[in-house]
Amino acid sequence: MIQPQSTPFLQDNMAKITFIGPDGTRYEVEADAGSTVMEAAIKNGVPGIEAECGGACACATCHVYVDGDWTDKTGEPEPMEEDMLDFAYDVQPTSRLSCQIRVSDELDGLVVKVPERQA
Ligand code: FES
Repeated sequence: MIQPQSTPFLQDNMAKITFIGPDGTRYEVEADAGSTVMEAAIKNGVPGIEAECGGACACATCHVYVDGDWTDKTGEPEPMEEDMLDFAYDVQPTSRLSCQIRVSDELDGLVVKVPERQA
């Protein structure tokens, strides 16, 4: 009987995410599928992502701008996120709260920009 090929488990469940700071500095991090973009930033010490509420969609200090090429894949904010975005600084059409973006294999290569300051 033919055995299924083993797949590199970890690699399949990771996504590379690039955060670009307001000064253009790039931070490339590996994120676990199932975690959030905010958690990847905090775990890797990306400056400018504060996440004061710990991911409860209640602070807007994890605000990012999703790169235009990725907005289809990250999707639209839920109504609760939209309400909280009202409290974010300099909101733009591609603004999202990074704690509400769930990492998946599909998001491998995601690029987000960090705003000049948080709410
Ligand atoms: Fe507070 Fe995202 S961490 S809204």
